[in-house]
Amino acid sequence: MRNRFFALWLIAIGLGISAGVVYADFKKGYYSPAQLGAIQQAAPAPLVPDASYEVPSYPVPNLDLAPGAGQAEVRIYCNTCHGPRYITMQPPLPAAAWEAEVNKMKKAYGAGIPEDATRKIIAYLQANYTPETRKP
Ligand code: HEC
Repeated sequence: MRNRFFALWLIAIGLGISAGVVYADFKKGYYSPAQLGAIQQAAPAPLVPDASYEVPSYPVPNLDLAPGAGQAEVRIYCNTCHGPRYITMQPPLPAAAWEAEVNKMKKAYGAGIPEDATRKIIAYLQANYTPETRKP
């Protein structure tokens, strides 16, 4: 008698739990239309089937870098963290100072510049931005 009562009790509990689970699952993610208005979001942009899209070019301010060999390397490698204008706004620096400057960008600030490009950049800066070589 006692065992039967216990079994019925277990079944009742089991049914109660399953009903709760089903109800919670049903309720989950259900929003009545009245609530929907309160959390309205913009519709996502429709996807383009061919997935091609355009981005504008990276904005590079009009450079006044002196023309000459090595200018391309400067444009490539000295434009990552700050603009190359950092070069032109310096006073004319001695040749050794430019070499130290480029090495500082690499060693102190972690600029990843290949060795051959480094040499070209230093030569370019020394050929155009020292007291002897800088054009007004
Ligand atoms: C990894 C990032 C990074 C790259 C790449 C980089 N610089 Fe710099 N540069 C800095 C930081 C950081 C400063 C100092 C902070 C500031 O003034 O904005 C700086 C400052 C300068 C200055 C101002 C003087 C000074 O020493 O503070 C000059 C000139 C300069 N950089 C030249 C160059 C040249 C030439 C190149 C290319 C060879 C270059 N930078 C590439 C990070 C970089």
